Order: sequence, then structure tokens, then C-alpha cells
Amino acid sequence: MPKTDKSALREVLESIRDGTPPAEGISEAAAAAGPAATAEPAAVAALSEGQASVRQAIAEGNLAAELAKPDVKAKAIRWVKGMGSPGAEEVADLLAMFRADVIADADLLEAVLKHTAITREEAEATASFKKLPAFKRKQILDKYRMSPEAAAKLVEDEDKAKGERFLSSEYRIVNPLLAALEELGVDPAVHQSPDYDYRPIEARLIQVWKRIAIARGSSPVTVETWDGDNLKETYGVVRSMARVWDKYEVPDIPGGAVTRGDTGAFMYAAYPFLDPKTQGYPDGELAFSKTITWPGVMSTTVGDPKDHNFIQAKSFIWKLQARAPHKGRIIGSINPAEQEVTFPVGSKVIIEKLIVRVHDKTLHAAEFGSVADVIALARLE
Ligand SMILES: NC(=O)c1ccc[n+]([C@@H]2O[C@H](COP(=O)([O-])OP(=O)(O)OC[C@H]3O[C@@H](n4cnc5c(N)ncnc54)[C@H](O)[C@@H]3O)[C@@H](O)[C@H]2O)c1
Repeated sequence: MPKTDKSALREVLESIRDGTPPAEGISEAAAAAGPAATAEPAAVAALSEGQASVRQAIAEGNLAAELAKPDVKAKAIRWVKGMGSPGAEEVADLLAMFRADVIADADLLEAVLKHTAITREEAEATASFKKLPAFKRKQILDKYRMSPEAAAKLVEDEDKAKGERFLSSEYRIVNPLLAALEELGVDPAVHQSPDYDYRPIEARLIQVWKRIAIARGSSPVTVETWDGDNLKETYGVVRSMARVWDKYEVPDIPGGAVTRGDTGAFMYAAYPFLDPKTQGYPDGELAFSKTITWPGVMSTTVGDPKDHNFIQAKSFIWKLQARAPHKGRIIGSINPAEQEVTFPVGSKVIIEKLIVRVHDKTLHAAEFGSVADVIALARLE
């Protein structure tokens, strides 16, 4: 599969963090093994025109004068821009151009930084680099010679951005995946660990994931196409959010109370003891003592439950007490009107009371409206 710009960038960042050169780069020492000027004439003929001109100029000691010629420079740029994974000799050519300090072209300098091991400081010190506009210098250096701190920040920002994706639409695919892991008996403490490997159960996981997503309203036509790549991507969203959960903003939760709306039928299928009809619970308040582990990422609101359709339209409402220090976070800002506080995978819901209103919807209607059959009061940990 071709690498996206982002994955290529991530690879470069990871290589910087690890202290290794990017996969497609090559060390200066390796480059030194292949002196360009000694290439045989037949081999030179087989080279691209740009590379051949550069080699010839290096051999004749007039690189600066040759590269000053627009046609030679254009050919050299074409060659360098087309460079995929340069071999040792090509890297030696790039370094020779750099060392001669004749490259005042952004594309050529970018290639030098991309494919060789010269340092940021070395690049900044060259006269030709200084000739580039400041924004361009920064752009190239940030891309190929980022400080470890800047690289870590970029990765963190990328991870944090997954929260926004989750809130906007990917809750539809992420939460069914987390529910599928639960159904297959994988505890959140296990699948949230950085070492977790789902591959031994991949085929079954995909099957169950698809079934749950369709049951929760995703289009079967879309879901049908999900495969191992989709799974990898979606699990990546889960991992990203887990990595940076504590870096998201901590919200103020007035009185420690948040509310959430759910579809009763789904709740009862997952937790039959909550179903007032099959359990024969009469209308009224019922003391309760049960703890469940929420398999997904849990959206709640600090807003008034009566102001939000995602609660008013639902047959099951949770009123949850989340006392500080809680794990609720603001993971995105896409829908500020929702006043959302999101809780991480595997939150413990300690149910203390059920307000059953199968027949009499006036019970606590001033606080919760008059649609839901059940309001569950619980603590969230
Ligand atoms: N639900 C809320 O009260 C709430 C609060 C704030 C914001 N939002 C926003 O609304 C959108 C939808 O959120 P959502 O909460 O419906 O997404 P969700 O993924 O949690 O729920 C989707 C559907 O799956 C069901 N479901 C979820 N967890 C389940 C479980 N453990 N067992 C069985 N069924 C389960 C839900 O009842 C719902 O019908 C998101 O953009 C979210 O940010 C929702």
C-alpha cells in the first residue's frame, strides 16, 4: 500500500525519536563508500541526465559553475525530486553538492536533509541555506530535522485530534469495536494496554464488530466493506485516545453530575437486570446495587438533560455522579452546544437506584422530561 504523506512524516518523526535515520535515508558513512567521480562511462550513460551532469561537474571540479546554469540546475532538480530511495552513490552526490555549498534551491536542500544524516545546525550554517526564505527554511528543517520535543508534540497533537474524530462520527465505529472486544471476552484493562495484540482473534473480531455496528444503525452496505485495514485504523483511534487521555482538558462538572441518554433495548440486551418489563419492576424508585464496566468511550453532558435531544429522545437515561478526581475530559470542541464530558473506555458504573416510569412518565419529569422508561442513578469511577 503506498505511504500517505502523514505516515511518511510519522516514520521520519519516529526515526528522529529513536535516533535512527529515516528508513529511506542513508548514512553519510555509507554514502562515502561510493565516490561519484569514479563511475564508469557506461554507468554514467545509464544515469539520469541530471545525475550525470552533476557527476561530471563534481569530477571536473566545477560544480558551482555548472549548477549556476539554468538547464543543468533544472535537470539536477528533476533528478533529485524524482529520487525514491537513493543508493550510496546518489547520497554521495547530494552530499558533494551540499558540501560545495552550491545548493540554493529548496528542493535540493530538502532532498539533502531527507536522504543524508547532516545535522540541523550544519544545514543552518551553510550560505546557500541562508539564501532560502525564512519560512521555507523553517518548513524544511521542521519536517526533516525536528527536535525530539517538537516531534513528540506533533505526535501528541495527532493523537489528540482523534478525539474530535470520535465525537464527530467515529463513535459509530469505535464503540461497536470496543463492544465486540467485550463480547469476545477481552477486558478493557487488557485491550487498552499498549502491548495488546488483537491479531489472534482478528477474523472473529471483525465479524462481531460488523454485527454490532449494523445493530446500532450503521449501513450494512458500508459495514460490509470493513476489513483488516479498517480494523487497524479504528483500533489506532482507540489507542491514540488512550495514549493522550490525561492530556485532554479536565472539565468543570458542576455538582459532579453528568447525564447520558441510551436506547433502552440495547441496554436491556446487554444488561438484562435493568429491564423493568422482563424483571417485573413496578413504577417508582428502586434501590439497586450493581456495578457494570462500560465497554466503550462514554459521552455525557453537563448540560440540562431537557435541553438535549440525545437524552430527550432516549428511553433510558443515566444520571451519573463523577466526583473529582474523575477521568472525564473534553476531547474535542466540534459541538460545544452538547456540553460534552467524555469518559474513557472501561469506566465503572456503580448503579444505586432505578427510577422506573413504564406507566407513569410524570415521575421526575421536571428534571428528565417525559420520554424515558427508566432513569438510572449511578456513580462513575
Ligand atoms: N448519549 C449522550 O447522552 C450524549 C451526550 C453528549 C454528547 N453525545 C453525542 O452524541 C453522539 C452519539 O453519542 P452516543 O452516546 O449515542 O454514542 P454511543 O456510541 O455511546 O451509542 C450509540 C448507540 O449504542 C448504544 N450503546 C452504547 N454503549 C452501549 C453498551 N455498552 N451496551 C449496549 N448499547 C450501547 C447506545 O444506547 C446508542 O443507541 C456523539 O457525537 C456524542 O458525542 C451524546
